[in-house]
Amino acid sequence: MGFDVRYDRTYGEYTYLKRENNMKKIEETNHWNPKTYNKHTAFVSQLALPVVDLLNPKKGEQILDVGCGDGTLAVEIECRGAKVIGIDMSAEMVEACRDNGIETYVGSVTDLPYEDEFDVVFSNATLHWVRDARTAVQNIAKSLKVGGCFVCEFGGEGNAYYLVSAMQEVFANHPEFGVFNNPWYFPGVKEYKKLLESEGFDVEYIEIIPRPTPMDDISHWLDIFANGVTSHISAEQFEVFKKEVTEILKKKIYSEGKGWVLDYKRLRVKAYLL
Ligand code: BEZ
Repeated sequence: MGFDVRYDRTYGEYTYLKRENNMKKIEETNHWNPKTYNKHTAFVSQLALPVVDLLNPKKGEQILDVGCGDGTLAVEIECRGAKVIGIDMSAEMVEACRDNGIETYVGSVTDLPYEDEFDVVFSNATLHWVRDARTAVQNIAKSLKVGGCFVCEFGGEGNAYYLVSAMQEVFANHPEFGVFNNPWYFPGVKEYKKLLESEGFDVEYIEIIPRPTPMDDISHWLDIFANGVTSHISAEQFEVFKKEVTEILKKKIYSEGKGWVLDYKRLRVKAYLL
């Protein structure tokens, strides 16, 4: 089982699946197995090149990579001449990133130790795991030099609508599963622009980009990404959850011709600290 890296000509987009990174608590580090993660989501980094192009790293720049994962993108950025410092909630990912030659630390964007240090803060496929978005933006602003640039991409308004709705529906049908807790933050353009401006940024570019994402196995997606929703239910309940979510989704995001296509929408941003 695994996902193919592919350029989807129908949608004119590279497609990919985001890595899991449960950033619920600052003091917790995640226990990611980078090998398992890579096996299934190596294309995440490979297909994030449009946002690296938006970043446009330059020789001599100091760049903080928030949620750097195993450092594939950080390596790409360093190849373009900048110096990257990575942070990630997962100690295993930090280790893997260091193995890739990047200076990396375990840490959360809600608790950064940096002040006035970076030319750029970069983040790909991470910030939708951080519900405390204001604290994240404040920490990003604090880490940047005046005039510094913040470039990010993450799930925006309407992201994974069918996926989230199906999970909610199954929880509603199973009171024994407890309350549905949505661990994700998918803001719209207006909301995020307002947040950035209120924390001292001038937003040069902000857009929601629909990114239908082909996926070989929805059950596998749930294994990787639904743990923020299902970590408290038993293994048996999780099997029921997966089966029922899959049944609902089959009518919405599956077709014989295309297979599973996740309804991803990315919020892509470039902003400068005033
Ligand atoms: C995403 O990467 O878009 C995503 C991750 C987890 C849940 C839903 C969407």
